[in-house]
Amino acid sequence: VAAPGETLRKDESGITCIKKCIHSIVEYFLLAVEKDRRKSLYAVQTERQEQARRSVLISCPARTNEKKFLKYLSRHGDIKNYFFYESYGVYAVVEFANQESVASLLEGTDVPSISHESMVPFKSRLLSLKNLGSVDSPKQQLGKQCQSQTTPPINELIQRLSKEESIDQQVTSLTEAYQLTEENSRLRFLVCSLLSDIAAAYFPESIIKPFGSSVNGFGKLGCDLDMFLDLDGITGKRANMPQSDLSLEYQMKRANSERAVTQSILSVIGECVDQFGPGCVGVQKILNARCPLVRFAHQPSGFQCDLTANNRVAMKSTELLYLYGELDPRVRCLVFTVRCWARAHGITSSIPGAWITNFSLTIMVLFFLQKRSPPIIPTLNHLRDLAGPADQSVIEGNDCTFVSDFSKIQLQNNTETLEQLLREFFDFYATFAFSKMSINIRKGKEQNKPEVAMLHIQNPFETSLNVSKNVNASQLERFVALCQESSWLFQQSETNTPRGGKGGNTSTPWGLAAILLPSQVSGVKSRKRRKREPASERIKSLLESLKSNSQQKQKKT
Ligand code: GTP
Ligand code: MG
Repeated sequence: VAAPGETLRKDESGITCIKKCIHSIVEYFLLAVEKDRRKSLYAVQTERQEQARRSVLISCPARTNEKKFLKYLSRHGDIKNYFFYESYGVYAVVEFANQESVASLLEGTDVPSISHESMVPFKSRLLSLKNLGSVDSPKQQLGKQCQSQTTPPINELIQRLSKEESIDQQVTSLTEAYQLTEENSRLRFLVCSLLSDIAAAYFPESIIKPFGSSVNGFGKLGCDLDMFLDLDGITGKRANMPQSDLSLEYQMKRANSERAVTQSILSVIGECVDQFGPGCVGVQKILNARCPLVRFAHQPSGFQCDLTANNRVAMKSTELLYLYGELDPRVRCLVFTVRCWARAHGITSSIPGAWITNFSLTIMVLFFLQKRSPPIIPTLNHLRDLAGPADQSVIEGNDCTFVSDFSKIQLQNNTETLEQLLREFFDFYATFAFSKMSINIRKGKEQNKPEVAMLHIQNPFETSLNVSKNVNASQLERFVALCQESSWLFQQSETNTPRGGKGGNTSTPWGLAAILLPSQVSGVKSRKRRKREPASERIKSLLESLKSNSQQKQKKT
């Protein structure tokens, strides 16, 4: 009997052979179970939404006695899960085992009595704990550590990575430090659930769902919370089978276009969030954007929120990115590393502008992984061909069909390490023919650019669109120059030699840590450095260029 992956030596006793076989068979099945355990994004979302509905968010005084707090809350039912975190004070997320416990808790919650101000009587599951009793001794206070909801600062990360012993370990360590934690993920769904309660005042069957990096597997701690108001529960309802000659339908207001409906709904919900939403501040309605949205900060969670509606294509892109991230662990690790590298060098920014976005960057990583030999991930067209009848999806005339059953996807045997992939990524884009070619993950092959654009990345679902239309020449040049620099650094022996060791206190940045350090290339000016140029200098050069332009014009006439 030869178990998979086992070599049996001739001198081994029969019992050892059998033990080895059993061990291998058990491992084989555990692996199969693990593979099957990969849930679809839909299943993950449903579970998290349900969890969020049974949860409350409580602001706690700094000196809260954890035991007393839990005992007090358990009067309303069993607590299934809880954690504390800090954001403008200490907060607790408490998940009850049953929904009735939340109702009972709210029943016993007081309305604040304030003398100098008036308040908006909107009750939500965002509460404050009041401690009327004696102050507890520090020993009795919060036993559970407050969970960190942010990534470590870049200098700390560089120090941490420098202590790792291989580039592969550095990439894994970066991913672990950056990825969303279980708690942060719960908090994101809870914020969506709290906002759903506001939207439900007008649209009881609607639900607010997270999308983008909060759920696609590529989100880092501190990333924004993209949400969309899903009204499909109302508008998507099919007509009932006729029971008689008569039937009833709702009278509904009509508008000129779907966009106009989306704008008016977002305008009203945005107003409610602004006027009634506890903890929601700085509400901005950006209704004339290509994708209308309401932007605000949710103070208790510290999340920057973007609320959209009728944004089903974005939900599909989220599902697609999630699927790619789940197919092979190297996908997420590489995306996290490239995103972090890009942020460290100012290639991406939190402010909208001519820079490459994280979404574009992620597609560039996926494209690179499709171009490996053999490919690490399949093309989108292949995923479409594997789709079953239930996966068919056409949104606003765009084919958004792709397989949802992971087990149907056969991967090829590519054994490249994270270190190899990272080096090759920089080489690949340092020499990519950006001037002529477009990046296309549908085909997994570069295509001739269909239109003039500095960087052309085909939108996976709205195929006539370019997701990086905003990128200008200087931003693309910086990206290429930084890829060249990082590729060069990786060829240097001092970059490749571990120079720290776990035990040491100080370690010299090497490997991944070295390429996160500020750029040394003189041509790669950072935006910040450019900003520091005195205003007088900038005005002088502007005047000079205007002068030379007008001189040239005069010559021509
Ligand atoms: P970070 O917020 O930067 O962490 O990443 P993100 O993936 O969440 O990006 P962002 O918040 O900018 O956008 C949210 C989601 O909207 C993305 O994940 C995409 O699904 C979608 N999206 C963003 N930009 C584009 C674009 O240019 N075209 C299309 N079709 N979808 C986009
Ligand atoms: Mg986002």
